[in-house]
Amino acid sequence: MIERLKIDLVESGRFGRNPLCTVERYDQLDPKKGVTRPTGTAADKAVRDYAVARMKEAGLSVRIDRLGNIFARRAGVKTNTGTVMCGSHLDSVIDGGQFDGALGVFGAIEAIRRLNDEGYQNARPIEVVVFTGEEGSAFGMTLLGSSALVGKIGVDEALSLENEQGKALEESLKEIDYLGDSIEDLRGVDYFIELHVEQGPILYDEGIPVGIVENISGISWINAIIRGQANHAGTTPMPMRRDALVAASEIVRFVNSRASEMAARPGASTVGTVGKFNVFPNGTNIIPGRVEMGIDIRDVVQHDMDLVRNEVIKAIRSIPQKYNIEVEVSTPISHSPTPLSRKVVASIKDAAGELGIPARIMNSGAGHDAQNMAAKVNTGMIFVPGVNGVSHSPMEWTEWDDIERSVRVLTQTLKNLSQQG
Ligand code: GLV
Ligand code: MN
Ligand code: MN
Repeated sequence: MIERLKIDLVESGRFGRNPLCTVERYDQLDPKKGVTRPTGTAADKAVRDYAVARMKEAGLSVRIDRLGNIFARRAGVKTNTGTVMCGSHLDSVIDGGQFDGALGVFGAIEAIRRLNDEGYQNARPIEVVVFTGEEGSAFGMTLLGSSALVGKIGVDEALSLENEQGKALEESLKEIDYLGDSIEDLRGVDYFIELHVEQGPILYDEGIPVGIVENISGISWINAIIRGQANHAGTTPMPMRRDALVAASEIVRFVNSRASEMAARPGASTVGTVGKFNVFPNGTNIIPGRVEMGIDIRDVVQHDMDLVRNEVIKAIRSIPQKYNIEVEVSTPISHSPTPLSRKVVASIKDAAGELGIPARIMNSGAGHDAQNMAAKVNTGMIFVPGVNGVSHSPMEWTEWDDIERSVRVLTQTLKNLSQQG
């Protein structure tokens, strides 16, 4: 049975690799050939088309909303009960792995196929969902499709976001044939479950095959542009420089040292990263005239996340005088730390117990569409270990046996929740 899911994950893992190639084993991973599938690219279209074909093969009826979110439904025996939804995303970071997001989508399709094989009758409808633009690798905001679905951002506002080439999301979705017209709200949905790689080291280190998520960390992004003066590196005297990179480096140090200080407190979960950093014009003999930075702050405690975020903004605003530069700061939407549904946590725990699969309760340091969904429906997440805890990297890998165990837990949880009510 894992063979069928393995084919889907390996085949879909080709899309966004350059050159296109399949990876079935850890020792075939190449640190230079990750998966790059930002929203609206040809690779995004290819993986969506592949998933929709599998959904239709599994007998699901597919619809697409204005944000390009994909929904695929297996009808329930009862018509008056809320849907159980499960899924994740198919877009990727730049040079990511083939399981981040894709596991939750193809794992959900596989769970449906197992129900089909058994002739299982679900009382509640079950829907597989693929959210648009979870990673924020194209349109500057993470959890894009689910943010619009839960009303955190307006549909028109989301559609007008532009990628680095200046193309709006609406046009990008139209180009890949995923600008749908289905009007969606979550009033008819009672449960959401997302299966995902842990993207951290805990399960792998402890040798536990399944994680059950209790809280998802908040995410706050700060974008900063530092403007100095590009000038000749040989002729400009040191006191007369307006070096944007020297100023920016002070911010890099500040983010790292302040987050480390916060994280050193017992039980703290603060992390801070300057993950995006572009220097212009980027020539050895030119004083850097401009730096663009993307800063990522996370915490499961809202107060601590907000504290570090505000201190970073203050630090950025305080450097112009010292370095004779100018700064521009913008803050795309923040996602709050999110506790997940106790009822769904208990249901996943029961499912793992029924199957005799060891599982542990944990928090998620990564962001997920589940944290948006949790605002509207009873939401839970199932984690699977990643080799060495590596993710957002071409070296991300999960063992097939662990994937099989997690899909069994997902299938059983869907069964349990679909019979309720
Ligand atoms: C999404 O994967 C994130 O945690 O940034
Ligand atoms: Mn990711
Ligand atoms: Mn993900």
